[in-house]
Amino acid sequence: MLSESFIQQLKQYSDIEHIVSGYVQLKKKGRYLSGLCPFHSEKSPSFFVYPQTQSFYCFGCGAGGDVITFIRQIENLEYMEAVRFLADRCGMTVPQDSEDDGRARLKKRVLEINRETARYFHDCLMSEQGKDAYAYLIRRGRDRKTIRHFGLGYAPDSWHGLVEHLRTKGFSEKEMIEANVAVQSQKGGAYDRFRNRVMFPIIDVRGNVIAFGGRALDDKGAKYLNSSDTIVFKKSKNLFALNFAKTSKLPGLILAEGYMDVIAIHQAGFDNAVATLGTSLTEEQARLISQYADKVVLAYDSDGPGQAATKRALNIFDEVGVKVTVLSMTGAKDPDEYIQKYGRERFAMLIDGSRNAIEFELSRLRNNHDVQTADGKVNFLKEACKLFAGIRNPVEREVYITQVANELEISPQAIKAQIQSLDKREQSRQRRQQKADTNIYIGRMAAAKNDVSRQVNLRYAMAEEGILYCLMKNPDFYQTVREKIAPEDFVTEVNRELYTAMVKRLESGQPIEMLDLSSELSPQAMGRVSAILATAPVQRCDLAELDDYIQRLSEHRNVKTEKEVAQMDDDALEAYVKQLAAKKNRRS
Ligand code: CTP
Ligand code: MN
Repeated sequence: MLSESFIQQLKQYSDIEHIVSGYVQLKKKGRYLSGLCPFHSEKSPSFFVYPQTQSFYCFGCGAGGDVITFIRQIENLEYMEAVRFLADRCGMTVPQDSEDDGRARLKKRVLEINRETARYFHDCLMSEQGKDAYAYLIRRGRDRKTIRHFGLGYAPDSWHGLVEHLRTKGFSEKEMIEANVAVQSQKGGAYDRFRNRVMFPIIDVRGNVIAFGGRALDDKGAKYLNSSDTIVFKKSKNLFALNFAKTSKLPGLILAEGYMDVIAIHQAGFDNAVATLGTSLTEEQARLISQYADKVVLAYDSDGPGQAATKRALNIFDEVGVKVTVLSMTGAKDPDEYIQKYGRERFAMLIDGSRNAIEFELSRLRNNHDVQTADGKVNFLKEACKLFAGIRNPVEREVYITQVANELEISPQAIKAQIQSLDKREQSRQRRQQKADTNIYIGRMAAAKNDVSRQVNLRYAMAEEGILYCLMKNPDFYQTVREKIAPEDFVTEVNRELYTAMVKRLESGQPIEMLDLSSELSPQAMGRVSAILATAPVQRCDLAELDDYIQRLSEHRNVKTEKEVAQMDDDALEAYVKQLAAKKNRRS
């Protein structure tokens, strides 16, 4: 366990406002700051940072806690890793020891294996056994410099080439399997996962080799084989070539579908290209991109699936607030092919002329509707109006309205009227939404969204939270609470976890700064602490109020299950029914 004083000092040096600002654009609003939540997608800010308590809370998804909880969640780290992460930032040294040393050591070993594996694959590519693979890359237009720059490699057509090599370097089969470069065989040994493939190492922004993609040279098996998720790799949270693109001097990023596309684009002089890793774009990747760029050129394949993926990506980027333009390629199926066929200058022109999302959608609509027919015209117009209603900039709106009006030979006024009615509908939708949001705040429902037990037992959960809050404010109320409530009386699990932690500290006479308990509490419980603190302004905490909460929670003890009721004898049943009736009277 780390000493409390170390954690205190670490937190002092890791001001929450400062740290969070590195991930979220925050606006100051009096005593707190707010911004768009990095943990779920939203368009209006419900994520709050409270400098006074050094905590954060999202009213939309219920995430919350102290600065360590924040780092754990946003960087996807264990508690100790988050502590180390923050310590590195502020130049503190974490005292030696610790329970999760095992995990940290394994991670380090896996990263070492990955690095050694990348080196091995690259050496194979440059040696005699890799000459076909090397020729393949050259034939496809990659040059020697690019091959070295990306550390491309070749996995030999062998079952144990890599496994044997790693063994001589002192790695165990278990570690190789953990790194997903080897696979457990039926007999219990391990064999190479990648065979007879061109290999693409995937490198994170810190320069670690975290995974591999491999392209088949023959028709055996899948065209591409990628590392599965491992202790050091989550494919939904990483991007190929971001390690290079993050330091590019070019504006924005280019997002392509494949490894070969990215490499071709880099070789053509655009070192700001990245790709997803064998999956379609995830929200996490879009957010990652938004940390490095405020605009993206989508350079997906020009085929059907590529265009569908483009449409999906447009929506995701819209959610995270990244501007998008779309490359429109004709005469080639992907950027790689385009560059090989038409050269880098023409590709550069393509980038310059890439269209924005509205134009992309419009031309898609044009393709889907025959505007020569009256029917087609009407349908095209309907869709176009929906599209325009989403444009917030009035000048931009005007431009498109005029363009479409001319194109269809109808009056711009007609289009505007149509959009206006859509606008009205949207406004009333937003008003409804706002009202719902306010209700959420009052009822403290936010944290419950992901917590069914809290939702089902809302009445008791709120009493529990009232008790917790009273205790946070007035630890000396504990005597009163202790006489009447035991931890088992808590109905919801998260609140029981909080109360138990609190009791432990109160009994041993320690201070109960709940926000300091991120080492012992689950992130979910930390979120609840923040929820309780964040809604404190609508909370009272005198003894009378406390009594009320205790009363309400004790009622739960008297609630019998159906089975229990069925087993009661007549007298017990009568007493129970009377008790229920009395309670009902009290409530109304
Ligand atoms: N992909 C994958 N598994 C497959 C096929 C594709 O993971 N079986 C991923 C790879 O990341 C690949 C990307 O999807 O780079 C795009 O696939 P595709 O367009 O089929 O390949 P290209 O990148 O065009 O590769 P090549 O030019 O070598 O055919
Ligand atoms: Mn291709």
